[in-house]
Amino acid sequence: MKEIKLEQTFTEYADINELPEEDRKLMKEAEQAAEAAYAPYSKFHVGAAVLLDNGTIVKGNNQENAAYPSGLCAERVALFASGAHFPKIGIKAIAITAYSELKDNHHQAVSPCGDCRQVMAEYEHRYGHSIRLIMEAEEGKYLVSTSVRQLLPYMFNSDNIL
Ligand code: THU
Repeated sequence: MKEIKLEQTFTEYADINELPEEDRKLMKEAEQAAEAAYAPYSKFHVGAAVLLDNGTIVKGNNQENAAYPSGLCAERVALFASGAHFPKIGIKAIAITAYSELKDNHHQAVSPCGDCRQVMAEYEHRYGHSIRLIMEAEEGKYLVSTSVRQLLPYMFNSDNIL
């Protein structure tokens, strides 16, 4: 037997102005999307903006429900809208941001949940290339990952079943 150590690489940016321009623009779109979140239960507004390979931006935000599990995260709202409206166009990047009404609308670090990571993994696989992730981190910083693989080692995908 042997021990396997995994290593993940992220790039941290000190503030929004340090982000590369394309990432910064996408993050601004995500911020707009967060404003329109439907989050009456958690008061946690999440915005996601997906950049397609043709330059189109598709936005999403969390949509909550009185029956809690029926709601959906911002990332999947944006990703599924992309898949529904632009099925033939790959996904280049996704920016994710959040703020909490319970914390004076201050921005919060946000990292996609396991289900959203799995959905992103499916789209990386479907379109045959990596998706860049731009995430809001602590204290106004930003974290960038060049692939969902960094967030989901040993992922399950259709290679396992087909
Ligand atoms: N949420 C997202 O939309 N994306 C994430 O990455 C984390 C969580 C939503 C789900 C729920 O509406 C609220 O944030 C609190 O969990």
